[in-house]
Amino acid sequence: MAYSEHPGLRTPDEPMLVRVFAAYTVSATVWLLLATFVGLILALKFSYPDLFTAPAFSFGRLRAIHTNGTFYAWASPALIGLALFVAARSSGTGLYSASLAWVALALINVAAICGTVALDLGYNAGDQEYREWLWWVRAILAFALVLTAWNLIGTVASRRDEDLYLSNWYTIGAVLWTIIVLIVALLPWYQVGLGQVAVQGYFMHNAVGMWFTPLALGVFYYALPKLLNRPIYSYSLGILAFWTNLVFYPILGAHHFLFSPLPWWLQTLAIVFSVAMLVPVIGGSANFLLTMVGQGHRMHRSPAMFILVGVLAYLFGSAQGTVEALRSLQPVWHLTNYTVGHSHLTMYGFVTFAIWGGVYALLPQATGRRAPDLAIGIHFWLSTIGVIIYVLSLSVGGTEQGLDWMRGAPFIQSVVDQAPYWLWRAIGGGLMFAGHLVFAFNVSLMVWGGLAEQAADRRAAGVPA
Ligand code: HEM
Repeated sequence: MAYSEHPGLRTPDEPMLVRVFAAYTVSATVWLLLATFVGLILALKFSYPDLFTAPAFSFGRLRAIHTNGTFYAWASPALIGLALFVAARSSGTGLYSASLAWVALALINVAAICGTVALDLGYNAGDQEYREWLWWVRAILAFALVLTAWNLIGTVASRRDEDLYLSNWYTIGAVLWTIIVLIVALLPWYQVGLGQVAVQGYFMHNAVGMWFTPLALGVFYYALPKLLNRPIYSYSLGILAFWTNLVFYPILGAHHFLFSPLPWWLQTLAIVFSVAMLVPVIGGSANFLLTMVGQGHRMHRSPAMFILVGVLAYLFGSAQGTVEALRSLQPVWHLTNYTVGHSHLTMYGFVTFAIWGGVYALLPQATGRRAPDLAIGIHFWLSTIGVIIYVLSLSVGGTEQGLDWMRGAPFIQSVVDQAPYWLWRAIGGGLMFAGHLVFAFNVSLMVWGGLAEQAADRRAAGVPA
């Protein structure tokens, strides 16, 4: 194919945009493999507790490596790479600054390496979930985020049209909100006593709802219309979901601490807003599903299937979160395996599938090379069947665990009862990890195959690299 015919090469600075997008995807994929290999070891430890007993492989250290690794080294850079590409493409312009993008990617990797090594050596910032990395490591990450915000806003500000495309509302919203969330989580004077509980609820849920969720939705709003070759069902519904997400999400973190000494009114407010979240969730999901209606022929064997799973997991995972927030039901599920099933339905079924849908839809546009349909299909089914087994086993097992505790059964009884569910979780996790290996293979084909072809075309056309 001639250089000029590559779908990914439109403006003179495109090769740089392509390289940035590819580098973010490759870096994220390496961390996906590492962090979920650790997840698999963790899952196996429940069934085989004598597996790897050295301190460096202890459950406590590896768990934080898995969660921080999947959040900050896999999902975050993968979504940032997609957001930068979408910002440039939807604005009809190049990237505001490739240098900012490279520095941010380098900082994310420095933070991920330092954070992971420190955790494995036993150095952490305490037991607050998703912020176990030492404070200076999180500061590096926060700085990378500021650079990303600058780059995204700069890119969108130089757009050709006056209108701001829906995806950019979501991605720019995500970077701006998250800077606030990270600063609140870093400030030392709230990190004691009950204040720490409130901040932890705020941080852990907003990391999901104000960072990963809007970024993933922003990817859907760009990738889905591209894949189906039709506009999104309703622009207004997308804007309604955007603003209602902003109004309802920031306060609902306290639902993680129901029945705690936090003020009762704050807990009640968190429950009310957890129910109100059904507005953006149903509005957003309906928008995507209605865009897909009647498009079965285009969806079949297309990366849009990843988006379909992502939308369904968003809808059901979020509705499940609303139900878990109710005072009548939380006593059954709180602190059980059920919550871990919920985390994976949302962070895996929704966010990770959104990334895969975005990468399979957009990376070929950039590099000019698709992955084989068969390999994409194998990845899809391994990950889909794997996550269904994972979530179902923990949902059933976690409910049984909670009921055991409520009826006052000896604690060890609840552990014995979990044995089959933990084994099934490890089997589901094994399938998911196998899917990640296939994804890594597909990324290597799309990136190196495509970039090598483009370089050859450029040389043939006499265009400088
Ligand atoms: C091969 C795939 C994966 C496996 C086998 C796996 C396994 C695990 C295990 C065993 C735990 C500890 C659960 C516990 O403490 O009882 C865990 C926690 C967690 N993982 Fe994964 N995981 C995988 C992929 C992912 C991905 C891709 C993400 C996010 C993008 C993720 C996010 C989380 C989160 C947020 C938690 C904390 C759960 C909670 O406390 O509610 N995992 N995972």
